[in-house]
Amino acid sequence: MNDDILFQIKKENLETGLRGFPVGYCTTSTVHPEKGLFYMDHPIDELAHWEPEQVIYLLFHGKDGTPEEVKAFKKELQGRAHVSTEVLHHIRALPKKGHPMALFSAAILILGIYEGKDDYQEDCLNLIAKIPEVTAAVINYHASWEKMPPSQPELGYMENFAQMLKPPKTKQEFPQILKLFNILHYDHGGGNLSTFVGKAVASGLEDMYGSIAAAMNALAGPRHGRANQECLQFVNEILQTLGEHASEEDVERLIREKLDRKELIYGFGHAVLRVEDPRATVQYAVAQNYYPEDPLVKMALMIRKMGSKVLKENPKVADPYSNVDAISGTLLTAAGFAYSDYYTVLFGLSRAVGIAIQIVYERVYARDGKGTPIVRPKYLFKPQ
Ligand code: MLT
Repeated sequence: MNDDILFQIKKENLETGLRGFPVGYCTTSTVHPEKGLFYMDHPIDELAHWEPEQVIYLLFHGKDGTPEEVKAFKKELQGRAHVSTEVLHHIRALPKKGHPMALFSAAILILGIYEGKDDYQEDCLNLIAKIPEVTAAVINYHASWEKMPPSQPELGYMENFAQMLKPPKTKQEFPQILKLFNILHYDHGGGNLSTFVGKAVASGLEDMYGSIAAAMNALAGPRHGRANQECLQFVNEILQTLGEHASEEDVERLIREKLDRKELIYGFGHAVLRVEDPRATVQYAVAQNYYPEDPLVKMALMIRKMGSKVLKENPKVADPYSNVDAISGTLLTAAGFAYSDYYTVLFGLSRAVGIAIQIVYERVYARDGKGTPIVRPKYLFKPQ
């Protein structure tokens, strides 16, 4: 896309969610309609099997780290990872009622109350370092799982998270799948709702923790981060309806029936992408590799193929391809983590990293250090 294009906002562009209108710069990642997501200049599929700390270094510093630099960065995050007992105590006093995303965002506010430094850069690194323990504490507590073992940051960023999280039983490769999920969800340009909200709230000079908590509330909606949970329900529902021995033709027929009834086909389409979301492509490949015989995986693969086939017939569907949420829940379930209420929390654990880094740019570096002004778009008055 030509960055110099000036966009003229017309009447028909109003009430369309600012689709496509540039509002600023994103210094960490970009989403290309045909090529998908890049972290700096690396396509996401290239990064999928890097170490999380190496990818976070790339996003935070805007360049590849040398092995020594990444090692030092890893140490730095480990040194900042401690979460105070007060924070954990207050998390474990939150009401368990409702969706865990509400607890997650409250937990981030609690972290800020006790450990905030009122310095965007410091708070960014601290939040990135501490969020695995906060997330594990929220999930274990909300799910009433086993007592959480002490944090061991020296194990590695996601290795430590995996050892703190205590689901009853998962497959041996679950930590690898978690690591992949984490890397794939760090960042998605500047305009996705949670990132936009986080940066908008920070533009009023709310601190990092309050801004990220707001961003997590934005992520919690079913049109954004909770879509992964809804997509899994959709795959499950089709599997229940058609059974394990369903053919591609059966799936195609059911999708057509659903469309005739004006029901939603979950897991397809994206505001920016016009190809299959490469984050989905990576996960389909991993699911196929680890769990070729898993009925849910087999069903998700058939939905991917037949859903696209059917949606492509409708010229009004701008993006008839699978998005990241179409497969992430199925992959986690196949790995033994069938607790779909926590999928959006896992998304938040990851996305908080990209948002926090983008906030540092807007608050500390943008406009020669002045920072971006408070977000204040115009709404046209229209009496009812
Ligand atoms: C995301 O990763 O945030 C989603 O794909 C939504 C988006 O980019 O708008």
